[in-house]
Formats: sequence, structure tokens, C-alpha cells
Amino acid sequence: MSIYIQVEAQRYATQTGETLYEALARHGLAVRKACVNGACGVCRCRLVAGAVDYRGRQPYGLDETARSEGYILPCIAYAEGDVTLNELRIVR
Ligand code: FES
Repeated sequence: MSIYIQVEAQRYATQTGETLYEALARHGLAVRKACVNGACGVCRCRLVAGAVDYRGRQPYGLDETARSEGYILPCIAYAEGDVTLNELRIVR
């Protein structure tokens, strides 16, 4: 069963074991990043549908307000099913 990441009008399939960041990069979407370990918050985007899991890691790059507003860190997040993201910071 495929899991998809919805970004604007596009859907991107994920592969087993890859983070949202890795999946988007494989499809050619370069999300702005720095640490790639959940510490800096540079990659943050908003999860508007679905759920993610950090697999034991902590999203230290997000404060409580950002978390409550639905922000996630795609560099350490794994989709738990189909997800919809917005406010992605894409490097063009
Ligand atoms: S790149 Fe630093 S938290 Fe994602």
C-alpha cells in the first residue's frame, strides 16, 4: 500500500523507511534544511491532514506554540498514512 504526501495539487508517493524530507527530495522537491536532525526548525511545514511519527526522536526545533499550530519537521517525520502538507519551504 502506498502512502502519499499531498502538496498543493500534487501527490508524491513515499517508500518504506523514508522521511517526508527524503521522499520529497526523491521527487525533486528540495525542502529548505540545515541540521536534518530535528534541532533547528528550518525545514518546518504545517501538517493539515494525516499524522506523522518521529520514531523516538524529538522535534526540538519546534516550540509548543508551533506544535499546537500543526507544524512538523519533515526531516525526521514519517508519514503514518496519507498526509497533506502546506507552508513547505521549497528551495527553487
Ligand atoms: S532541518 Fe533542522 S529541523 Fe529539519
